[in-house]
Amino acid sequence: MTPDQPTVSDGGTELDLGRWVSGGACIAHAEGKTWFVRFGIPGERVRVVVTRRARGVVYADVTSVISPSPARTDPACRSFGPGLCGGCDLQHVSLEEQRRSKRDVVVDCLTRLGGMRLDHLKKCVTETTSIPGDAGGLGWRTRMTALRTVGGIGMHRARSHEVVEVTECPITDNRVLPSVMRDVRPGEEFRAAIGSDGIVRVEAQGGSARVREAVTTLVGTESWSLPVGAFWQVHGGFAQYLGDTVVGLAGSVTGETWWDLYAGAGLLTAFLADAGASRVVSVESDGRACSAARRTFHNRPDVVLHHAEVAAWLADQAQPPHGVVVDPPRSGCGPEVTRQLMSLPVPRIIYVACDPAALARDVRILRSGGYEVQRVVPIDAFPMTHHVETVALLAFTHRLS
Ligand SMILES: C[S@@+](CC[C@H](N)C(=O)[O-])C[C@H]1O[C@@H](n2cnc3c(N)ncnc32)[C@H](O)[C@@H]1O
Repeated sequence: MTPDQPTVSDGGTELDLGRWVSGGACIAHAEGKTWFVRFGIPGERVRVVVTRRARGVVYADVTSVISPSPARTDPACRSFGPGLCGGCDLQHVSLEEQRRSKRDVVVDCLTRLGGMRLDHLKKCVTETTSIPGDAGGLGWRTRMTALRTVGGIGMHRARSHEVVEVTECPITDNRVLPSVMRDVRPGEEFRAAIGSDGIVRVEAQGGSARVREAVTTLVGTESWSLPVGAFWQVHGGFAQYLGDTVVGLAGSVTGETWWDLYAGAGLLTAFLADAGASRVVSVESDGRACSAARRTFHNRPDVVLHHAEVAAWLADQAQPPHGVVVDPPRSGCGPEVTRQLMSLPVPRIIYVACDPAALARDVRILRSGGYEVQRVVPIDAFPMTHHVETVALLAFTHRLS
């Protein structure tokens, strides 16, 4: 049997799995089509069930493993697997292989969508780094939005609006679920967040647990007070790690002006100011995050806050700063903002991305405008899931590619 000839037995189609692709799937080729297979690991021979077919592509889930990878491991969660909770997709994979897969996906995006050469990427992409503060990839999640069901909480099935009830969530800090079960009535949607004081604040749509007080998170010497629903990094150890990574990539910022675009409550603004930047300009469109930033930075003359849309704010800027940090939502900066940064041009850009595909699309534009990617750091901020945070340093070198 050659790898591209699937066999169909009573248990489903048999496939040999190739490399990781984005979304936690492995690629396979059969019937003249490309298959994206979830719950497998590269190198395995597996039996699968088709979940969807679309224009030459087949989506499938593993139903049984014929030859397992040495990286296969027992999931920590009973609700993990095909048709069950869609929150995690890599619980069957060793942490070491999960991290390898995330680097592979970042490199794949930057070559395919970013147009970068593999030999250059091999030199500038680090191994996926892990974050202090989780226990073997578990217990790291400090924020949750879900539905309280009768016996537990409702999570979405993968790629579905259907809700599946779970009674445990091993990737979540173990203080979160007991608070939700105590404070929220069945049928209510809720948001929960745990602060540095270890107290879980829960806000429920139906009003059974309406919390007005903020969640206070301490990072380094700075303390942030945010409403439960405002953006904050989900992994308990990530805020500090991200700040250290950004400052490390920025190099010496002493006496420089930096912009922190898509700044949230100003986490990275604080790191840049504390690292010695003489002026940090923070731009954010969410009013609650801006109010939190005003509370944090009220006595910092080196920090300037703007409550604004990034593109509109950039349109009024004529003088480039020494460097810019961008940390946009999943969709990335997009062509408009990317071109605005290029036209100034900003000498150094540190790009924080939660979707490597969006990063790669923006990188393609920046490279065409004379930027070079100098360092890429994939960070395992979401263990047990395919999600990866990537921080990239780009410098304006005038070289067009
Ligand atoms: C991924 S978060 C980054 C927050 C911050 N860097 C942190 O680590 O806490 C993205 C932020 O961008 C903000 N945002 C989204 N679109 C925006 C826009 N067009 N202009 C300004 N801010 C925007 C969101 O409100 C959110 O706070």
